[in-house]
Amino acid sequence: MQDVGLSIAGQGIICAEIQSGPCGFVVFGASGDLVRRKLLVSLFCLFQQGLTNEHFFILGAGRKELSDEQFRKDTEQVIREKTKELSSADLDKFLNMLYYIAGDYSEPSFYNAIKSKIEQISTKHQVGENIIFYLSVPPFLYPVIIEHLGLAKLSCRQKTKIVVEKPFGRDLQSASELNQSILKCFTESQVYRIDHYLGKETVQNILMFRFANSIFEPVWNRNYIDHVQITIAESDGIGHRAAYYEHSGALRDMFQNHVLQMLTLAAMEPPISFEADSIRDEKSKLLKSIRPFIVDELDQHIIRAQYGEGMVKGKKAVSYKSEHSVADNSKTETYVAAKMFVDNPRWKDVPFYMRTGKRLSAKYTEIAITFKQVPHSMFASIGLDDMPANVLVFQIQPGEGIILNFQAKHPGSKTCISTLSMNFKYSELFGTEMPESYQRLLLDCMLGDQTLYTRQDTIETSWKILTPVLEAWQNSNTSPFEYPAGAESFPAADNLIESDGRKWRKISE
Ligand code: BG6
Repeated sequence: MQDVGLSIAGQGIICAEIQSGPCGFVVFGASGDLVRRKLLVSLFCLFQQGLTNEHFFILGAGRKELSDEQFRKDTEQVIREKTKELSSADLDKFLNMLYYIAGDYSEPSFYNAIKSKIEQISTKHQVGENIIFYLSVPPFLYPVIIEHLGLAKLSCRQKTKIVVEKPFGRDLQSASELNQSILKCFTESQVYRIDHYLGKETVQNILMFRFANSIFEPVWNRNYIDHVQITIAESDGIGHRAAYYEHSGALRDMFQNHVLQMLTLAAMEPPISFEADSIRDEKSKLLKSIRPFIVDELDQHIIRAQYGEGMVKGKKAVSYKSEHSVADNSKTETYVAAKMFVDNPRWKDVPFYMRTGKRLSAKYTEIAITFKQVPHSMFASIGLDDMPANVLVFQIQPGEGIILNFQAKHPGSKTCISTLSMNFKYSELFGTEMPESYQRLLLDCMLGDQTLYTRQDTIETSWKILTPVLEAWQNSNTSPFEYPAGAESFPAADNLIESDGRKWRKISE
């Protein structure tokens, strides 16, 4: 297949990036890894680009005793490691906006102390009422912290927001209980349920691609599309996260959120505007149109598997069960593949094949739309098999971009055909690295834009789709299939798609 380049045409780039207003971030779980690696580094990048307001502060809250100075030092170290282009003057200014407070999450006195500290530093930095509470703690602490924020009257100002990390519940019941406990203290317009996939540039581009061009939407339906494949493959294993992963598994960790969110963007109806609730209404409708799994026929529609030992990128990898802190008889799935249908006029009977797994051959994420083949070959000596269907790929990882495959005449003999690939890579075309997805999401939260955050009904509908599967797996005597670490695919996953006469796309970096 040959690559064809792309360039920026016409009037070039039209951007509308806005600086946030005055704002204070209160981060629970501030001494944790995620906060430093993702959150603080992303906030610093926004600060360096002038996108945070000069009236700004971050208050880290955690159990560990740390002084403001220690918190600043730890943060400085991570930022220096992770940021390529760094101005030391900017870093100094940023570090001076950082504070820390230690306490016990279940003690009301902790929240009173937080309240006083917020008042004190808000006055110093002239921040006003735009305070964001960010929960980066284990999920069992969500209701505890939320209740105390309510009791301490820290949730009641209209501009206050709360950001909740995943996992948001572990089934329909726990997700709706969590929603109820949040909504006792905050209104839905204050709640930001984060899914970092929605901050990825290509994921956001799906809507612009679909709805800012007139040539794709007319063919974006069952008349022209044969099937859709969504893949999130990872070559890494579970690392040090066994304690979390053993109780989660791939369906909860990746499928319920990232995979289904990508499905909604690829398949939803046009929203009436690019406003948060118009988009979220359509996403919600789409999820409600998904055909429920029939528990007695699960095997034909969804399979789970777990990695055994193998070789990943030339290195020996242990099986999931041999990972540190994983039970010898664990049935936790590290891979899920599913065939799903959206029962609406646009998609009736178009299969959506979706898979996600750890310890696969490569880290690779894409949404691939495969169009129907031409019905007839008019070219003597070129059969239908020589004319593969057009495929449009939103490539999300490793490089972000869009690829369109099509047939064209090859120079030479009269009927010589080859498949070309129109390949657009963000980094090559725009000459910049993609911003970390947290940057987009955090900026939107500061601006009060909920478009890329998940709404209560969407979360609950996605759990409603998957809870019967989780229950069936939990009650089943059978174990997940096993695949060798480093595999690209394996028979049980292949059967799911090959029984329909189709094939998984290659997973390649
Ligand atoms: C997280 C999951 O949400 O996403 C992890 O908890 C997973 O298990 C990660 O590794 C993948 O994110 P990304 O952006 O690296 O594809």
